[in-house]
Amino acid sequence: MNVQSAKDKLPSVSDYYSAVQLRADRWSALRETAEGIHEHGIEGRQGARLLKTAEELFEALAPIELYWAFPGIHAFNHLRRQLEQRNVEDFTVSVRRVARALTSGAYRRRTIPVGGDEIDNEDFEDETALSPEDRALGRPYFEVLIVDNVNEHQERFLRNNLHRVRRAEDPFIYEPVIVPSLEDALMGILFNYNVQAVIVRPGLVLKSKNVLPIIEQYLQRVKDEEDVDAIEPHKYGPEACRLIAKVRPELDAYLITDGSAEDIAGLDLGKCRRVFYNQEDFLELHLNILRGVNRRYKTPFFTALKEYSKQPTGVFHAMPISRGKSISRSHWIQEMGAFYGPNIFLAETSATSGGLDSLLEPRGPIKEAQDMAARAFGAKQTFFATNGTSTCNKIVVQALVRPGDIVLVDRDCHKSHHYGMVLAGASVAYMDSYPLHQHSMYGAVPIHEIKHTLLKLKAAGKLDKVRMVLLTNCTFDGLVYNVERVMEECLAIKKDLVFLWDEAWFAFARFSPTYRQRTAMTVANTLRERLRDPAHVKAWEAQQEALKDADEETLLKTRLLAPPDARVRAYATQSTHKTLTSLRQGSMIHVNDMDFKGEVEQAFHEAYMTHTSTSPNYQIIASLDVGRRQVELEGFEFVQRQVASAMAIRRAVQTHPLLKKYFKVLTPSDMIPAEYRESGVEAYFDEQEGWSDKWEIWAKDEFVLDPTRVTLAVGGTGWDGDTFKTKILMDKYGIQINKTSRNSVLFMTNIGTTRSSVAYLIEVLVEVAKELDELLDDASKMEKRSFEKRVAGLIEHVPPLPDFSRFHDAFRHGSETPEGDIRTAFFLAYNEDNCDYLDLDDMLMQRLSEGEELVSASFIIPYPPGFPILVPGQVISPEIMSFMRALDVSEIHGYRPDLGLRVFTPEALNALTKKTKK
Ligand SMILES: Cc1ncc(COP(=O)(O)O)c(C=O)c1O
Repeated sequence: MNVQSAKDKLPSVSDYYSAVQLRADRWSALRETAEGIHEHGIEGRQGARLLKTAEELFEALAPIELYWAFPGIHAFNHLRRQLEQRNVEDFTVSVRRVARALTSGAYRRRTIPVGGDEIDNEDFEDETALSPEDRALGRPYFEVLIVDNVNEHQERFLRNNLHRVRRAEDPFIYEPVIVPSLEDALMGILFNYNVQAVIVRPGLVLKSKNVLPIIEQYLQRVKDEEDVDAIEPHKYGPEACRLIAKVRPELDAYLITDGSAEDIAGLDLGKCRRVFYNQEDFLELHLNILRGVNRRYKTPFFTALKEYSKQPTGVFHAMPISRGKSISRSHWIQEMGAFYGPNIFLAETSATSGGLDSLLEPRGPIKEAQDMAARAFGAKQTFFATNGTSTCNKIVVQALVRPGDIVLVDRDCHKSHHYGMVLAGASVAYMDSYPLHQHSMYGAVPIHEIKHTLLKLKAAGKLDKVRMVLLTNCTFDGLVYNVERVMEECLAIKKDLVFLWDEAWFAFARFSPTYRQRTAMTVANTLRERLRDPAHVKAWEAQQEALKDADEETLLKTRLLAPPDARVRAYATQSTHKTLTSLRQGSMIHVNDMDFKGEVEQAFHEAYMTHTSTSPNYQIIASLDVGRRQVELEGFEFVQRQVASAMAIRRAVQTHPLLKKYFKVLTPSDMIPAEYRESGVEAYFDEQEGWSDKWEIWAKDEFVLDPTRVTLAVGGTGWDGDTFKTKILMDKYGIQINKTSRNSVLFMTNIGTTRSSVAYLIEVLVEVAKELDELLDDASKMEKRSFEKRVAGLIEHVPPLPDFSRFHDAFRHGSETPEGDIRTAFFLAYNEDNCDYLDLDDMLMQRLSEGEELVSASFIIPYPPGFPILVPGQVISPEIMSFMRALDVSEIHGYRPDLGLRVFTPEALNALTKKTKK
């Protein structure tokens, strides 16, 4: 946000996506204004204008500051008074101090004097400038939200008592924020990311007096689902606890009540950690608050590893690198020791003793760390993996799928699944995602397609063989399924289906209330509850009656309900390293399966043993443990910031006149056809309307676009995606990305993305656009024509994306259903005599268009994005070949241009068909 413009005219709330950003910008605008007042004085037109701006900024900040402990509403009012009394000197010093402490985070480390009469200590340390050691030594800071409608005297009493019970040995430091109502509590926890604990006291009221649209919109989300207004007064406290758990399950809530234990018993208190009947036992409360935060702060394995690294150990096992011995004695590889520092080697060991644990048979700190991760991600069990989600996917598939079981798979899923299918011997029914021809990418699999495939298998009497539905959520390009709808409707057709959700890109989603509702673990927990609900049982019975003689068309059109006795069986695999803090390859498998203990546990153990190294990397495990601590304490803040960064990119490209000319950020309506966007929302930002209410989209639509993944259409520049990525972004400006399509590039933001990296990206895009403008200004007629032709070639003449054709009959059991035996096809190709090679030439195209049946003997996987356009046993269609010939990526795994396309010989296929028929 440009401060100058803030001074001239306050930007409207609709210009902002995030209240946090709005707050930050208003404080820096206030600081600028205060400095202006200091410099020019309050006389004359300029002085009057500056005073007016300062007053407006105070007005705009007042409802926001209510929810933050620093500077706190009293200090804020003090600043306001300083201005009213025209105490310019003190006012400027105080505002500057607060604004700087907010930006630097200094308020987290020590008390910042706000009144003008305190010692003027301008020597603020910048949090980010401190060494990691210094920061690690400081006590972490958080805020405690107290919900109670207190008067000034009572408020002072509360604050004084909480300060009084502080002890030097406390591991953390916290400050209270006091809000009067249940509504304020909900707005507070959705806005103030410093809050780690909430104390609900008996004096709370229901309604907030606050009227600030950007904060109210948070509340609206809760109100869309909950009838907050109907809560009865005696239930304000318990209901506040329940709603807090719903909105931010990672927070600790404490209920203080003056009612009796019997009044509270039987009420749903969410995750309330304790109920206190004595309002005044502040020490007990204080100790509980610290213990609650420490529960999340604990990192059992990381701590054990740190302890281990301090022990003086003689190494008589493998691993010469352990304790750095092979390096420190070396004359040639000292550089490695210097580069990594000593700790990494002190922490390297192959021993599972000395307080450490074994990933293969965890009983100690690894087990504890995994259990804590399960809690954090809403799973019943969590397993760490040190070789990526590629391996997690194979483990889950092997644990659950028996040879011959039918698995419904999205065809454009990651290659690890396809290999997993081969290993498990699954019968694979591929489903097509909707194509986005214009942008040369796939969307996701519509529920209609999933249900249609299931119903076809049901009609063919094969439903008992169907074991699993496997989908990618979100997709590489950021398409997010309506997980609840998919699971529920599928369970309505087969009540014990297992779901594997590949959440390689979605680990962060758990920590935003908006995203969370579309994660596998959250939905599994919601469904467990819903299936037990008598209202659901009734609704299901009514639907059964209504659908008694329904035909397929009706079933496809109806939003089906899951039977009350359905089994909730969900697995999610997450590349923690892709979206959260973890070393590369750190991944997790989350399990929420009612039948895990009874049916799967042993097989899961075997599958885990099959794929896990006996030398798992301890540093990766430790980083998973620490990554979990981070998200439980600050995931909410970081994800919020990440979304805000991505939204800033979207807004900038959409509104900058020069950027608009050559680029376009793809909107939900560009990437999701209207029939899957029930909310009708087309874009996240509109120049006239500002931000659209994205909560509604997430609650309703079949697919949502994850706003943190920004696909930029670059066809208008005349460069294809790959050239734009390598020649412009990487070579010229050092910006790294990894996914492109023919006419787009994907910018992924993550929890480490900063406002300045976003600003740099925008700067670069503006520079590229300027250069293009200049180039075209001076271009000859011919050059202009050539440019226009290139652009048209990229935007208009895009080769259509091919559907999955089908498995060849030799690999199928019956032609009425699509599933195929991919393993037989895969191993048939091991014998070179069964294979032939064909050039990708016009001749091949001719043979295909004349109807010849050619069958792929390999996976053909263009990289990126890394999913196969052909799998072993798949009939090659002319569309697939045209697409392959037009591909613009440099890596196509499984295809060797010097040899040609690997296909099965007709003899091999005939022999197999005969054998199968016998
Ligand atoms: C959807 C999907 N699943 C799984 C993986 C594999 O994850 P990992 O790199 O952690 O092995 C990827 C990698 O890009 C992916 O995009």
